[in-house]
Amino acid sequence: ARTTVGIVGAGPAGLLLARLLHASGIDCVVLESRDRGYVEQRQRAGILEQGTVDVLRESGAAERLDREGLPHDGIELRFDGRAHRIDFPALTGGRRVWVYAQTEVVKDLVALQLADGAPLLFEAQVTAVEGAESAQPVLRYTHQGVERRLECDYVVGCDGFHGVVREAIPAGARQTFERSYPYSWLGILADVAPSSDELVYAHSPRGFALLSMRSPTVSRLYLQVPNGTDPADWSDERIWDELDARFALAAGDWKLARGPITAKSVLPMRSSVTEPMRHGRLFLAGDAAHIVPPTGAKGLNLAAADVTVLARAFTGLHRTGSTELLNSYSATCLNRVWRAEHFSYFMTSTLHTAPEQSPFDTRLQLSQLDRIAASPHAAAELAANYAGLPLV
Ligand code: FAD
Ligand code: DHB
Repeated sequence: ARTTVGIVGAGPAGLLLARLLHASGIDCVVLESRDRGYVEQRQRAGILEQGTVDVLRESGAAERLDREGLPHDGIELRFDGRAHRIDFPALTGGRRVWVYAQTEVVKDLVALQLADGAPLLFEAQVTAVEGAESAQPVLRYTHQGVERRLECDYVVGCDGFHGVVREAIPAGARQTFERSYPYSWLGILADVAPSSDELVYAHSPRGFALLSMRSPTVSRLYLQVPNGTDPADWSDERIWDELDARFALAAGDWKLARGPITAKSVLPMRSSVTEPMRHGRLFLAGDAAHIVPPTGAKGLNLAAADVTVLARAFTGLHRTGSTELLNSYSATCLNRVWRAEHFSYFMTSTLHTAPEQSPFDTRLQLSQLDRIAASPHAAAELAANYAGLPLV
């Protein structure tokens, strides 16, 4: 079999790219190693930037998002016994974000793809990328127990952090920049209305906590925990008590509404960027090329931005025969990626308490948070990054 664009991975990056190529009349095939149910249920991100919502709308994938998504015009920062609201539209000239879970974005994109799109194969694991430097790379994959091959004009690795396409780029032709963090998140989903209308990011002497949500009836909450934490060590009651203590502005003044906890997991944190995001006819997009620690909710949004830039480049090639935009893809994306890497690092390191953190470092964090609360310029910088910078 052969196709124009072979897409590896049906996460948000691969699925959105397939939609955008479909709109431009470019043919592609999406190969996904997991089954449909797994891909649609995997709990991950929850916040969509303005630009991500714009591209989902343009690609006709926002019908349910526009009905069920929750527009958010701000977040609250809590630190040093104070609460400060960041007003996104006022500080960014009208930009905002939406609460709409990654699981729902994926479900919507999968349904559209299966209804009228190019082939999307589940349980199709890519095992090798051959001819990475040739004019016709080949994807080898296993589907329904049979080994198959797909000849492609271009291959796009949307296969996440543990994908195979990045590894197919010769080691001498790529470079990875990484950072790890000395803490993780314990994340829960609970069947209870969120205790705040807006997200709350809390810096506290006991560590970071975040109140988020998935819908008007489902809360999503996170607690900073030590690396290597076993979720089994955290009973439901211990989790709620600790959240209450970290969100409190004064001891005992805050009680979250509690409800049944339906999911509990520990997420490690890491920053990583692989450069360049292209080698010959292989391209990397989304987590396959870069990951961020979750504070600030950039991961899914960066993936959407990458494939938007890439789809424009393939469309340019298709319409005019020019490879100009394909040639600038990596540099265009990396510019934005490094900005988001810095923002995610900044949010993470400003709001968490590292093990053995010195009182000096805590004073620096509080001074930075105080600056954001006191200065519209400092707040505007946070708001612009959070609501999402323009694509190019
Ligand atoms: P993915 O969603 O990882 O999709 C990659 C796809 O490729 C997967 O479906 C995988 O099965 C498939 N694949 C891999 N290898 C192969 C192969 N060999 N052959 C075929 N298919 C393959 N971001 C936030 O903003 N907020 C959060 O709270 C948040 N929580 C997260 C929690 C976890 C546990 C993780 C891992 C990430 C989280 N993120 C979060 C980040 C965000 O979910 C990702 O940035 C986003 O999923 C990136 O989309 P993607 O399509 O690039 O990659
Ligand atoms: C969520 C995750 C984040 O990392 C964040 O900064 C905000 C919200 C969430 O999963 O809802």
